[in-house]
Amino acid sequence: MTDAQPTSAPDLPVDVEADHDIDLPTVAPGEVLLEVEDLHTTFSSPRGPVRAVRGVSFELRRGRTLGIVGESGSGKSVLSRSIMGLMPSNATRTGSVRFAGNELLNAPAKTMRGYWGDQMSMVFQDPMTALNPVLRVEKQITETLHEHIDLSKGQARDTALKLLESVGIPEPKRRLRMYPHEMSGGMRQRIMIAIALACGPKLLFADEPTTALDVTVQAQILDLLQGMQRDRQMAMILVTHDLGVVAGRAHDIAVMYAGQIVEQAPAAELFAHVRHPYTEALLRSIPKLEMAKHTKLDAIGGRPPDLANLPQGCKYAPRCAYAQDICHVEEPPLKPDPDNADHLFRCHFGIPDTGGLAPRTDRAEAVGDGAAGDGAAGNGAVGAGVGSGSGAVAGVQA
Ligand SMILES: Nc1ncnc2c1ncn2[C@@H]1O[C@H](COP(=O)(O)OP(=O)(O)OP(=O)(O)O)[C@@H](O)[C@H]1O
Ligand code: SF4
Ligand SMILES: [Mg+2]
Repeated sequence: MTDAQPTSAPDLPVDVEADHDIDLPTVAPGEVLLEVEDLHTTFSSPRGPVRAVRGVSFELRRGRTLGIVGESGSGKSVLSRSIMGLMPSNATRTGSVRFAGNELLNAPAKTMRGYWGDQMSMVFQDPMTALNPVLRVEKQITETLHEHIDLSKGQARDTALKLLESVGIPEPKRRLRMYPHEMSGGMRQRIMIAIALACGPKLLFADEPTTALDVTVQAQILDLLQGMQRDRQMAMILVTHDLGVVAGRAHDIAVMYAGQIVEQAPAAELFAHVRHPYTEALLRSIPKLEMAKHTKLDAIGGRPPDLANLPQGCKYAPRCAYAQDICHVEEPPLKPDPDNADHLFRCHFGIPDTGGLAPRTDRAEAVGDGAAGDGAAGNGAVGAGVGSGSGAVAGVQA
Protein backbone atom coordinates (compact mmCIF):
# COMPACT_ATOMS: atom_id res chain seq x y z
CA MET A 1 0.00 0.00 0.00
CA THR A 2 1.24 3.51 -0.80
CA ASP A 3 1.56 5.83 2.15
CA ALA A 4 -0.62 8.92 2.14
CA GLN A 5 1.28 12.15 1.77
CA PRO A 6 1.89 13.80 5.13
CA THR A 7 0.06 17.04 5.63
CA SER A 8 1.47 20.03 7.46
CA ALA A 9 1.02 20.65 11.19
CA PRO A 10 -2.54 19.48 11.96
CA ASP A 11 -5.30 21.69 13.17
CA LEU A 12 -5.73 19.96 16.53
CA PRO A 13 -8.81 20.19 18.75
CA VAL A 14 -6.63 21.67 21.52
CA ASP A 15 -3.76 24.08 21.32
CA VAL A 16 -0.96 21.72 22.33
CA GLU A 17 1.51 24.51 21.74
CA ALA A 18 -0.03 26.59 24.49
CA ASP A 19 -1.14 23.86 26.88
CA HIS A 20 2.12 22.82 28.51
CA ASP A 21 2.65 21.51 32.05
CA ILE A 22 5.73 23.60 32.60
CA ASP A 23 5.72 27.33 32.36
CA LEU A 24 8.75 28.39 30.36
CA PRO A 25 9.65 31.67 28.75
CA THR A 26 8.67 31.76 25.06
CA VAL A 27 11.54 30.94 22.77
CA ALA A 28 10.81 32.43 19.37
CA PRO A 29 11.96 30.70 16.18
CA GLY A 30 15.61 31.51 15.62
CA GLU A 31 16.35 32.06 19.32
CA VAL A 32 18.55 29.73 21.35
CA LEU A 33 16.44 26.93 22.89
CA LEU A 34 19.09 24.50 24.10
CA GLU A 35 22.53 25.29 25.51
CA VAL A 36 24.86 22.40 26.32
CA GLU A 37 28.10 23.33 28.01
CA ASP A 38 31.05 21.11 28.82
CA LEU A 39 28.81 18.07 29.30
CA HIS A 40 30.53 14.94 30.61
CA THR A 41 28.79 11.61 31.16
CA THR A 42 30.67 8.78 32.82
CA PHE A 43 29.40 5.28 33.65
CA SER A 44 30.84 3.27 36.48
CA SER A 45 31.64 -0.25 35.34
CA PRO A 46 33.64 -3.25 36.61
CA ARG A 47 36.37 -2.22 34.17
CA GLY A 48 36.54 1.29 35.64
CA PRO A 49 34.89 4.55 34.53
CA VAL A 50 33.52 4.53 30.95
CA ARG A 51 33.83 8.11 29.69
CA ALA A 52 31.07 8.11 27.08
CA VAL A 53 30.64 11.88 26.69
CA ARG A 54 33.65 14.11 27.28
CA GLY A 55 33.19 17.86 27.30
CA VAL A 56 30.50 18.42 24.67
CA SER A 57 29.25 21.99 24.12
CA PHE A 58 26.82 23.40 21.57
CA GLU A 59 23.81 25.65 21.16
CA LEU A 60 20.63 24.84 19.26
CA ARG A 61 18.16 27.44 18.08
CA ARG A 62 14.43 26.90 17.66
CA GLY A 63 13.68 25.94 14.05
CA ARG A 64 17.12 24.44 13.42
CA THR A 65 18.28 20.85 12.98
CA LEU A 66 21.60 19.64 14.34
CA GLY A 67 22.90 16.39 12.85
CA ILE A 68 25.06 14.33 15.21
CA VAL A 69 27.15 11.81 13.29
CA GLY A 70 29.67 9.18 14.30
CA GLU A 71 30.44 5.48 14.31
CA SER A 72 28.83 3.03 16.68
CA GLY A 73 29.92 3.66 20.27
CA SER A 74 30.98 7.28 19.72
CA GLY A 75 28.53 8.50 22.36
CA LYS A 76 25.67 9.83 20.23
CA SER A 77 22.85 8.15 22.12
CA VAL A 78 24.42 8.76 25.53
CA LEU A 79 24.70 12.45 24.63
CA SER A 80 21.02 12.61 23.62
CA ARG A 81 19.90 10.75 26.72
CA SER A 82 22.14 12.90 28.91
CA ILE A 83 20.40 16.02 27.60
CA MET A 84 16.95 14.46 28.09
CA GLY A 85 17.93 13.25 31.57
CA LEU A 86 17.18 9.60 30.71
CA MET A 87 20.12 8.08 32.56
CA PRO A 88 20.73 4.74 34.28
CA SER A 89 21.80 4.73 37.92
CA ASN A 90 25.49 4.05 37.11
CA ALA A 91 25.82 7.35 35.21
CA THR A 92 27.27 10.64 36.46
CA ARG A 93 26.84 13.89 34.53
CA THR A 94 28.67 17.17 34.96
CA GLY A 95 28.48 20.43 33.03
CA SER A 96 25.34 22.27 32.07
CA VAL A 97 22.19 21.65 30.00
CA ARG A 98 19.91 24.69 29.77
CA PHE A 99 16.51 24.47 28.08
CA ALA A 100 14.78 27.80 27.45
CA GLY A 101 17.19 29.20 30.04
CA ASN A 102 16.36 26.60 32.74
CA GLU A 103 19.15 24.38 34.05
CA LEU A 104 18.14 20.72 33.68
CA LEU A 105 21.25 18.83 34.71
CA ASN A 106 20.41 18.43 38.38
CA ALA A 107 16.66 18.81 38.07
CA PRO A 108 14.68 16.21 40.08
CA ALA A 109 13.07 13.33 38.16
CA LYS A 110 9.62 14.79 38.85
CA THR A 111 10.56 18.02 37.08
CA MET A 112 12.08 16.11 34.17
CA ARG A 113 8.89 14.09 33.73
CA GLY A 114 7.15 17.39 33.08
CA TYR A 115 9.58 18.06 30.21
CA TRP A 116 9.40 14.64 28.58
CA GLY A 117 6.83 14.49 25.83
CA ASP A 118 5.69 17.99 26.64
CA GLN A 119 8.80 20.06 25.89
CA MET A 120 11.22 17.50 24.45
CA SER A 121 10.70 14.04 23.07
CA MET A 122 12.51 11.30 21.25
CA VAL A 123 11.92 9.09 18.23
CA PHE A 124 13.87 5.88 18.77
CA GLN A 125 15.62 3.66 16.26
CA ASP A 126 13.43 0.65 16.79
CA PRO A 127 9.72 1.37 17.26
CA MET A 128 9.02 -2.28 18.14
CA THR A 129 10.90 -1.91 21.42
CA ALA A 130 9.63 1.61 22.09
CA LEU A 131 5.95 0.90 21.41
CA ASN A 132 3.87 -1.18 23.79
CA PRO A 133 3.03 -4.42 21.91
CA VAL A 134 -0.15 -5.13 23.87
CA LEU A 135 -1.80 -1.72 23.52
CA ARG A 136 -3.70 -0.49 20.50
CA VAL A 137 -2.25 2.56 18.76
CA GLU A 138 -5.11 4.77 19.93
CA LYS A 139 -4.43 4.02 23.58
CA GLN A 140 -0.70 4.69 23.18
CA ILE A 141 -1.31 8.13 21.69
CA THR A 142 -4.15 9.18 23.97
CA GLU A 143 -2.22 8.08 27.09
CA THR A 144 0.59 10.44 26.13
CA LEU A 145 -1.91 13.24 25.56
CA HIS A 146 -3.71 12.66 28.87
CA GLU A 147 -0.41 12.70 30.74
CA HIS A 148 0.22 16.32 29.79
CA ILE A 149 -2.98 17.90 28.57
CA ASP A 150 -6.40 18.16 30.13
CA LEU A 151 -8.59 16.59 27.43
CA SER A 152 -11.93 14.84 27.25
CA LYS A 153 -12.00 11.33 25.81
CA GLY A 154 -13.50 12.60 22.56
CA GLN A 155 -10.93 15.39 22.21
CA ALA A 156 -8.09 12.94 22.80
CA ARG A 157 -9.44 10.59 20.11
CA ASP A 158 -9.89 13.44 17.61
CA THR A 159 -6.36 14.62 18.36
CA ALA A 160 -4.97 11.11 17.87
CA LEU A 161 -6.79 10.86 14.53
CA LYS A 162 -5.44 14.21 13.35
CA LEU A 163 -1.94 13.24 14.44
CA LEU A 164 -2.07 10.03 12.38
CA GLU A 165 -3.28 12.04 9.37
CA SER A 166 -0.46 14.52 9.87
CA VAL A 167 2.18 11.79 9.72
CA GLY A 168 0.74 10.43 6.48
CA ILE A 169 -0.99 7.31 7.76
CA PRO A 170 -3.74 6.16 5.40
CA GLU A 171 -7.07 5.05 6.86
CA PRO A 172 -6.22 6.54 10.25
CA LYS A 173 -9.50 5.45 11.89
CA ARG A 174 -8.74 1.81 11.13
CA ARG A 175 -5.09 2.16 12.20
CA LEU A 176 -6.06 3.55 15.59
CA ARG A 177 -7.64 0.19 16.38
CA MET A 178 -4.52 -1.79 15.40
CA TYR A 179 -1.63 -3.19 17.45
CA PRO A 180 1.99 -2.33 16.52
CA HIS A 181 2.76 -5.84 15.22
CA GLU A 182 -0.04 -5.53 12.64
CA MET A 183 1.81 -2.70 10.90
CA SER A 184 4.86 -2.37 8.65
CA GLY A 185 8.17 -0.96 9.99
CA GLY A 186 7.60 2.36 8.22
CA MET A 187 4.08 2.65 9.59
CA ARG A 188 5.26 1.90 13.14
CA GLN A 189 7.93 4.57 12.81
CA ARG A 190 5.21 7.05 11.75
CA ILE A 191 3.22 6.09 14.87
CA MET A 192 6.32 6.75 16.99
CA ILE A 193 6.66 10.17 15.38
CA ALA A 194 2.96 10.90 16.02
CA ILE A 195 3.42 9.99 19.71
CA ALA A 196 6.59 12.04 19.99
CA LEU A 197 4.83 15.05 18.47
CA ALA A 198 1.52 14.60 20.32
CA CYS A 199 2.08 17.31 22.91
CA GLY A 200 3.87 19.79 20.65
CA PRO A 201 7.45 19.47 21.95
CA LYS A 202 9.89 22.28 21.22
CA LEU A 203 12.82 19.91 20.88
CA LEU A 204 12.76 16.56 19.07
CA PHE A 205 15.51 13.96 19.23
CA ALA A 206 15.52 11.48 16.36
CA ASP A 207 18.04 8.82 17.35
CA GLU A 208 18.82 6.71 14.26
CA PRO A 209 15.14 6.89 13.34
CA THR A 210 15.46 4.99 10.08
CA THR A 211 18.28 2.47 10.26
CA ALA A 212 15.87 -0.47 10.53
CA LEU A 213 14.00 0.58 7.37
CA ASP A 214 14.60 0.06 3.67
CA VAL A 215 16.00 2.96 1.69
CA THR A 216 12.73 4.22 0.18
CA VAL A 217 10.85 4.19 3.48
CA GLN A 218 13.92 5.71 5.16
CA ALA A 219 13.73 8.70 2.82
CA GLN A 220 9.96 9.08 3.43
CA ILE A 221 10.42 9.08 7.21
CA LEU A 222 13.30 11.54 7.05
CA ASP A 223 11.22 13.80 4.79
CA LEU A 224 8.37 13.57 7.26
CA LEU A 225 10.58 14.51 10.22
CA GLN A 226 12.10 17.37 8.25
CA GLY A 227 8.65 18.64 7.25
CA MET A 228 7.35 18.45 10.83
CA GLN A 229 10.43 20.21 12.14
CA ARG A 230 9.91 23.01 9.63
CA ASP A 231 6.15 23.36 10.08
CA ARG A 232 6.33 23.39 13.85
CA GLN A 233 9.57 25.35 14.03
CA MET A 234 10.94 22.74 16.42
CA ALA A 235 14.57 22.31 17.23
CA MET A 236 15.67 18.84 16.13
CA ILE A 237 18.69 16.67 16.91
CA LEU A 238 19.06 14.05 14.20
CA VAL A 239 21.43 11.28 15.31
CA THR A 240 22.95 8.92 12.76
CA HIS A 241 26.09 7.03 11.85
CA ASP A 242 25.61 8.09 8.22
CA LEU A 243 26.66 11.53 6.97
CA GLY A 244 24.45 10.89 3.93
CA VAL A 245 21.36 10.97 6.17
CA VAL A 246 22.06 14.48 7.48
CA ALA A 247 23.19 15.92 4.15
CA GLY A 248 20.44 18.29 3.04
CA ARG A 249 18.47 17.72 6.24
CA ALA A 250 20.53 19.30 9.02
CA HIS A 251 21.46 22.98 9.25
CA ASP A 252 24.50 22.17 11.34
CA ILE A 253 26.52 19.00 11.79
CA ALA A 254 28.56 17.79 14.75
CA VAL A 255 30.83 14.78 14.16
CA MET A 256 31.50 12.72 17.30
CA TYR A 257 34.43 10.47 18.03
CA ALA A 258 35.21 8.78 21.35
CA GLY A 259 32.71 10.92 23.25
CA GLN A 260 33.84 14.28 21.89
CA ILE A 261 32.81 16.57 19.08
CA VAL A 262 35.76 16.47 16.67
CA GLU A 263 34.28 18.71 13.97
CA GLN A 264 31.29 21.02 13.94
CA ALA A 265 30.07 23.46 11.30
CA PRO A 266 27.05 24.60 9.31
CA ALA A 267 26.28 21.68 6.97
CA ALA A 268 27.23 23.41 3.74
CA GLU A 269 30.53 24.59 5.21
CA LEU A 270 31.36 21.15 6.59
CA PHE A 271 30.88 19.38 3.27
CA ALA A 272 32.76 22.11 1.42
CA HIS A 273 35.77 22.29 3.71
CA VAL A 274 36.20 19.11 5.71
CA ARG A 275 39.04 19.75 8.14
CA HIS A 276 39.11 16.68 10.38
CA PRO A 277 40.61 13.42 9.09
CA TYR A 278 37.86 11.39 10.76
CA THR A 279 35.10 13.32 8.96
CA GLU A 280 36.97 12.82 5.72
CA ALA A 281 37.13 9.08 6.39
CA LEU A 282 33.39 9.01 7.16
CA LEU A 283 32.68 10.75 3.86
CA ARG A 284 34.81 8.28 1.96
CA SER A 285 32.92 5.38 3.49
CA ILE A 286 29.58 6.52 2.01
CA PRO A 287 28.45 5.23 -1.39
CA LYS A 288 28.56 7.76 -4.23
CA LEU A 289 25.59 8.14 -6.52
CA GLU A 290 27.61 7.43 -9.62
CA MET A 291 29.28 4.31 -8.18
CA ALA A 292 28.66 0.94 -9.79
CA LYS A 293 26.51 -1.27 -7.54
CA HIS A 294 29.28 -3.46 -6.14
CA THR A 295 32.06 -0.89 -5.83
CA LYS A 296 34.09 -1.42 -2.66
CA LEU A 297 33.91 1.52 -0.27
CA ASP A 298 36.80 2.88 1.82
CA ALA A 299 35.95 1.39 5.20
CA ILE A 300 37.61 3.22 8.09
CA GLY A 301 40.46 0.99 9.20
CA GLY A 302 40.93 0.09 12.87
CA ARG A 303 38.47 0.43 15.71
CA PRO A 304 37.34 3.28 17.96
CA PRO A 305 39.20 3.38 21.31
CA ASP A 306 38.00 1.71 24.49
CA LEU A 307 36.22 4.45 26.44
CA ALA A 308 37.33 2.84 29.70
CA ASN A 309 40.96 2.97 28.63
CA LEU A 310 41.54 5.93 26.36
CA PRO A 311 44.93 6.41 24.71
CA GLN A 312 47.06 9.49 25.37
CA GLY A 313 46.98 12.29 22.80
CA CYS A 314 44.52 12.51 19.93
CA LYS A 315 42.01 9.69 20.29
CA TYR A 316 41.91 9.22 16.52
CA ALA A 317 45.72 8.94 16.17
CA PRO A 318 45.90 5.11 16.00
CA ARG A 319 43.67 5.19 12.89
CA CYS A 320 44.69 8.51 11.35
CA ALA A 321 46.55 8.59 8.02
CA TYR A 322 47.87 12.07 8.86
CA ALA A 323 49.17 11.35 12.39
CA GLN A 324 52.50 12.87 13.46
CA ASP A 325 54.52 12.30 16.66
CA ILE A 326 52.77 15.08 18.56
CA CYS A 327 49.38 13.45 17.91
CA HIS A 328 50.26 10.47 20.11
CA VAL A 329 51.22 12.73 23.01
CA GLU A 330 49.03 15.83 23.05
CA GLU A 331 45.26 15.89 22.72
CA PRO A 332 44.24 18.72 20.37
CA PRO A 333 41.60 21.22 21.54
CA LEU A 334 38.42 21.94 19.58
CA LYS A 335 39.26 25.23 17.89
CA PRO A 336 37.80 27.42 15.14
CA ASP A 337 39.08 27.36 11.59
CA PRO A 338 41.12 30.57 11.12
CA ASP A 339 39.04 31.27 7.97
CA ASN A 340 35.65 30.61 9.56
CA ALA A 341 34.81 31.02 13.23
CA ASP A 342 31.68 28.84 12.81
CA HIS A 343 33.76 25.86 11.76
CA LEU A 344 35.37 24.04 14.70
CA PHE A 345 37.69 21.06 14.50
CA ARG A 346 39.83 19.08 16.92
CA CYS A 347 43.10 18.35 15.11
CA HIS A 348 46.65 19.65 15.47
CA PHE A 349 46.84 20.27 11.75
CA GLY A 350 43.51 20.06 9.93
CA ILE A 351 43.52 18.47 6.52
CA PRO A 352 44.20 20.90 3.70
CA ASP A 353 41.23 22.14 1.72
CA THR A 354 42.18 20.17 -1.36
CA GLY A 355 41.29 16.63 -0.39
CA GLY A 356 39.25 15.97 -3.51
CA LEU A 357 36.11 17.35 -1.92
CA ALA A 358 33.85 19.74 -3.77
CA PRO A 359 35.18 23.22 -4.51
CA ARG A 360 33.99 26.11 -2.39
CA THR A 361 31.96 27.89 -5.08
CA ASP A 362 29.96 24.81 -6.12
CA ARG A 363 29.02 24.14 -2.55
CA ALA A 364 27.99 27.63 -1.61
CA GLU A 365 25.74 27.94 -4.68
CA ALA A 366 24.26 24.49 -4.42
CA VAL A 367 23.46 24.37 -0.74
CA GLY A 368 23.46 27.78 0.86
CA ASP A 369 22.99 27.95 4.60
CA GLY A 370 19.36 26.94 4.82
CA ALA A 371 19.59 23.57 3.17
CA ALA A 372 17.34 21.84 5.64
CA GLY A 373 15.13 24.80 6.30
CA ASP A 374 13.79 25.72 2.89
CA GLY A 375 13.13 22.25 1.62
CA ALA A 376 13.78 23.35 -1.95
CA ALA A 377 17.50 22.73 -1.64
CA GLY A 378 16.82 19.18 -0.45
CA ASN A 379 19.14 16.32 -1.08
CA GLY A 380 19.60 16.81 -4.77
CA ALA A 381 21.14 20.20 -4.22
CA VAL A 382 23.52 18.93 -1.61
CA GLY A 383 24.35 15.94 -3.76
CA ALA A 384 25.33 18.27 -6.55
CA GLY A 385 27.47 20.24 -4.15
CA VAL A 386 29.21 17.27 -2.60
CA GLY A 387 30.16 16.06 -6.05
CA SER A 388 33.03 13.71 -6.39
CA GLY A 389 34.18 14.16 -2.84
CA SER A 390 31.60 12.08 -1.10
CA GLY A 391 28.35 11.56 -2.95
CA ALA A 392 27.10 11.65 0.56
CA VAL A 393 23.45 11.62 -0.26
CA ALA A 394 23.21 8.35 -2.11
CA GLY A 395 21.53 6.77 0.87
CA VAL A 396 18.65 9.18 0.93
CA GLN A 397 18.14 9.73 -2.76
CA ALA A 398 17.58 6.22 -3.94
N1 LIG B 1 24.72 1.97 30.97
C1 LIG B 1 25.96 1.94 30.48
N2 LIG B 1 26.98 1.47 31.22
C2 LIG B 1 28.25 1.43 30.74
N3 LIG B 1 28.59 1.87 29.51
C3 LIG B 1 27.61 2.34 28.73
C4 LIG B 1 26.24 2.40 29.15
N4 LIG B 1 25.49 2.92 28.16
C5 LIG B 1 26.35 3.18 27.14
N5 LIG B 1 27.61 2.84 27.48
C6 LIG B 1 28.81 2.97 26.64
O1 LIG B 1 28.87 4.30 26.16
C7 LIG B 1 29.46 4.30 24.87
C8 LIG B 1 28.68 5.14 23.93
O2 LIG B 1 27.45 4.50 23.67
P1 LIG B 1 26.33 5.11 22.74
O3 LIG B 1 25.14 4.21 22.88
O4 LIG B 1 26.11 6.55 23.02
O5 LIG B 1 26.96 4.97 21.29
P2 LIG B 1 26.32 5.44 19.91
O6 LIG B 1 27.23 6.45 19.32
O7 LIG B 1 24.91 5.84 20.12
O8 LIG B 1 26.43 4.10 19.07
P3 LIG B 1 25.36 3.42 18.06
O9 LIG B 1 25.60 4.07 16.72
O10 LIG B 1 25.76 1.98 18.07
O11 LIG B 1 23.98 3.65 18.58
C9 LIG B 1 29.58 2.84 24.44
O12 LIG B 1 30.92 2.44 24.63
C10 LIG B 1 28.69 2.12 25.40
O13 LIG B 1 29.14 0.81 25.63
S1 SF4 C 1 45.54 15.47 15.68
FE1 SF4 C 1 46.86 14.16 14.47
S2 SF4 C 1 46.05 12.09 14.76
FE2 SF4 C 1 44.50 13.52 15.45
S3 SF4 C 1 43.20 13.80 13.70
FE3 SF4 C 1 44.73 15.44 13.61
S4 SF4 C 1 46.37 14.63 12.35
FE4 SF4 C 1 45.10 12.90 12.93
MG1 LIG D 1 23.10 5.07 19.54
